[in-house]
Amino acid sequence: MLLVRNLSQIATPAGRGPVRGAAMRSLTIHDRGVLVIDGDRFMYAGAESAVPPEIRAKIDCDFDGRGATAIPGFVDSHTHIPFAGFRESEFNRRLQGETYAQIAESGGGINATVFATRRATQQELVEHILTRTRTMARYGTTTAEAKSGYGLDLASELKQLRAVREAGAQSPVRLVATCLAAHEFPPESRGSDAARQGYVSTILSEILPAVAADKLAVFCDAFVERGVFTRGQGEAVLRGGTALGMMPRLHADELTDTDGASLAASLGAASADHLMFISDRGIAALAASDTVANLLPATSFFLMADRYAPARRLIDRGAIVSLSSDCNPGSSMTESMQTVVQLATLQMKLTVEESLTAATLNGAYSLRMANEIGSIEAGKRADFILLDAPNYLHLVYHFGVNLVAAVFRDGRQVA
Ligand code: NIG
Ligand code: FE
Repeated sequence: MLLVRNLSQIATPAGRGPVRGAAMRSLTIHDRGVLVIDGDRFMYAGAESAVPPEIRAKIDCDFDGRGATAIPGFVDSHTHIPFAGFRESEFNRRLQGETYAQIAESGGGINATVFATRRATQQELVEHILTRTRTMARYGTTTAEAKSGYGLDLASELKQLRAVREAGAQSPVRLVATCLAAHEFPPESRGSDAARQGYVSTILSEILPAVAADKLAVFCDAFVERGVFTRGQGEAVLRGGTALGMMPRLHADELTDTDGASLAASLGAASADHLMFISDRGIAALAASDTVANLLPATSFFLMADRYAPARRLIDRGAIVSLSSDCNPGSSMTESMQTVVQLATLQMKLTVEESLTAATLNGAYSLRMANEIGSIEAGKRADFILLDAPNYLHLVYHFGVNLVAAVFRDGRQVA
């Protein structure tokens, strides 16, 4: 058994379920505590003097925390990491005043990445995912969701999801796959409403069944937005995925209010994501449901939007709130959950405690993994990070630098 000692603090949310409301602000804190790890699991977290003798007797290895603060590994429950090619010139156009929507209409946007991703081999995608997950790990992420959605045809969606599976077997970060074939209409299906409906039929009759047959995704997802998938189309895709054993998530109310949050709640979706334009009705629907409000403040920041999701109202009305990076080449080119936590606190006015709970345990709940990960407590997988900081407040207070000194996943040091 491994003893991690000489910590200035252990700070973690607690429990195996989602945390709502004021409870998001209550962390379990052990000042100068220790961790004991048996194989891939925590055995103990707390005062060194209180380590039970039967556990103490089995400690045969010791790690010097050098005064670090231990927190759970970040759970990044919304990413688009299986992509090829970058869009820095498009970013530069945005800096000159063009909007994300204008760039998409002129042939850039998601479709630019679709072209590059279709051209890439599966092996190239594996390499890209491994590069990104190494960066994620260095910044403290130990579990990440990874969406397809830059293939938009059967072969290319399968290629992306197979690359996630292959990379996941070697990556420092545990990966959870989502089929987002309904991310956008592919260029060959954009001509007419009938062509668009034809792509929805292809998703339902070919793509989702093939993904399910190879068990390539745990979740399915759709982008319901004005000019992209209608509510009816999004609902059909998520119901189709559910019938094949995938759990739904939904890109909802990102650029306009389409009442996507209510749709996600009514479908029992694991999460409703983005929510910059969520209405009061949508907030009430999420608050009354187990669908997680997954907020992505790095996207607002990177798009230089004047609007962030109404995180305060979501928490205060009792919705389960999580935080994710949305890592993708168009609207959020970052792997850093530290940055996400800092933006959530400084821009969306979450407390540091709420941000930490949202970026760990509630993200784990949205991936249906809160039993196993998301907090530091006996019995859970030993996923934790050591911050070069005297306490957890430094996570936001000491912003813009990488505070991560060491990363452990399943009890093994991965960064
Ligand atoms: O989550 N909402 C749609 N999809 C991505 C953007 C993808 C892209 O621009 O490549 C998002 O923001
Ligand atoms: Fe997204």
